[in-house]
Amino acid sequence: MQYRESDMPEVELWERFFDPVSILHTLELDHNTKNYVDVGCGFGTFLIPAAKIISGVAIGIDINQEYLDICRKRVEQEKLPNIELIKEDLSDGKTSHTITQMDIDVDYISLFNMLHCENPVDLLKWTERLLAAKGKVGVIHWKPQETPRGPAMAIRPSPSKIRTWGEQAGLKCVKQVDVSSYHYGVLFEK
Ligand SMILES: C[S@@+](CC[C@H](N)C(=O)[O-])C[C@H]1O[C@@H](n2cnc3c(N)ncnc32)[C@H](O)[C@@H]1O
Repeated sequence: MQYRESDMPEVELWERFFDPVSILHTLELDHNTKNYVDVGCGFGTFLIPAAKIISGVAIGIDINQEYLDICRKRVEQEKLPNIELIKEDLSDGKTSHTITQMDIDVDYISLFNMLHCENPVDLLKWTERLLAAKGKVGVIHWKPQETPRGPAMAIRPSPSKIRTWGEQAGLKCVKQVDVSSYHYGVLFEK
């Protein structure tokens, strides 16, 4: 099941709202990060810059074939050898066999603009299970204030809600930061 309010606008409009390299840097994704999973990778807005920073494989998962096709085209244009794209529905909380079969340690997972979904704690528990010891989970979301896009206020989580959900999923909150005028970030560690 596709998560509620998870459709995207045109790529050009979406990407006006982010400085992905700066956001990834603030949320401590760096060259020491080996393998990375971007949950709901969309157009690859964060996946592609992240693949150029990390030293291992960058895996993007999304339910939407149209977004994955756009992302794949960009990956091919940039000739990035370390990106894997997986079409998968994460709403059932089941283990990703594709990732487990890859037999790698996942040391960073991003949940960017995702946690207004129906089952945020289940999704965070899924990341916690997949993550290697001491691995990190980076979250960003639209601030709960007037913004030019973003989900309805009624389902938009506050930073403190996200911290609570992460802790319920067994993660430790490392920091909460402002990453832009419209977005905040939360970093967790396993
Ligand atoms: C608001 S977009 C965010 C995209 C990307 N994380 C970013 O910030 O640029 C939400 C993404 O989640 C994906 N998505 C929605 N439901 C999903 C599901 N059940 N399993 C996997 N991906 C899903 C959508 O297709 C979309 O690409």
